[in-house]
Amino acid sequence: MTSERRPLIVGNWKMNTTLAEARILAYNIVHLVGVPKDVDVAVCPPFVSLPIVAEALRGSPVALGAQNLYPAESGAYTGEVAPNMLQGLCSYAIVGHSERRAYFAETDEFVNAKVRTALEYDLTPIMCVGETLLQHEAGETTKVLQTQTMGGLVDVEDVSMVVIAYEPVWAIGTGVAATPDDAREGIAVIRSTIADARGQDVADSVRILYGGSMNPQNVASLLEQPGIDGGLIGGASLNVEQFIALVRAAEERERE
Ligand code: PGA
Repeated sequence: MTSERRPLIVGNWKMNTTLAEARILAYNIVHLVGVPKDVDVAVCPPFVSLPIVAEALRGSPVALGAQNLYPAESGAYTGEVAPNMLQGLCSYAIVGHSERRAYFAETDEFVNAKVRTALEYDLTPIMCVGETLLQHEAGETTKVLQTQTMGGLVDVEDVSMVVIAYEPVWAIGTGVAATPDDAREGIAVIRSTIADARGQDVADSVRILYGGSMNPQNVASLLEQPGIDGGLIGGASLNVEQFIALVRAAEERERE
């Protein structure tokens, strides 16, 4: 293995797939992925499909994740899903995705509450951070990544339990991924921010994924960058062949 951090490939299905489609996609992934060597794989379907996908994944090494959670156990929060509803069903929960930050006004403080809640309920948070195009062009990438990373990790005791996804907002769903250099540099900023606050050992233990238009064509050049521990994949995760190709690329990197 090239690093002690086990690579992780996560499919974020977003608001796609009906129940029937989710079930078929999950069965197809299980069927084709086999037992990935030295790579962790997870899929994050819509909430309503979690039980049906859990059923399809049973006995397979593919883990299940939620796309969000609400940081309270119960109460008058119409439309939200509590962590204890996900506990035991899911292994991961995506928090702070840029779409939630942009369309649902999620702040670093709220994302932080979700990170802490996920950990409390045995869910591995996949905390997304990333700069917008405006911030990128204004040279604010480092500042944004530092702020979002530290803001999301306030009072998190064991930071090594958190997975972070660097997702430049301008690369999400656009077909234009970050260059391998940009992705590596963004991830290096996140890791050094953690190192400054919590020490190098902790920083070295955190898995940091890249996300944003990752596909079978660009995956190898991204994963060969030092410090990139896998991918959070939207569009390409809805196509079974493409998703499997990304898992295979991660396996390949581990073999080198
Ligand atoms: P994309 O989405 O792969 O479709 O760009 C990634 C994400 O938003 O997690």
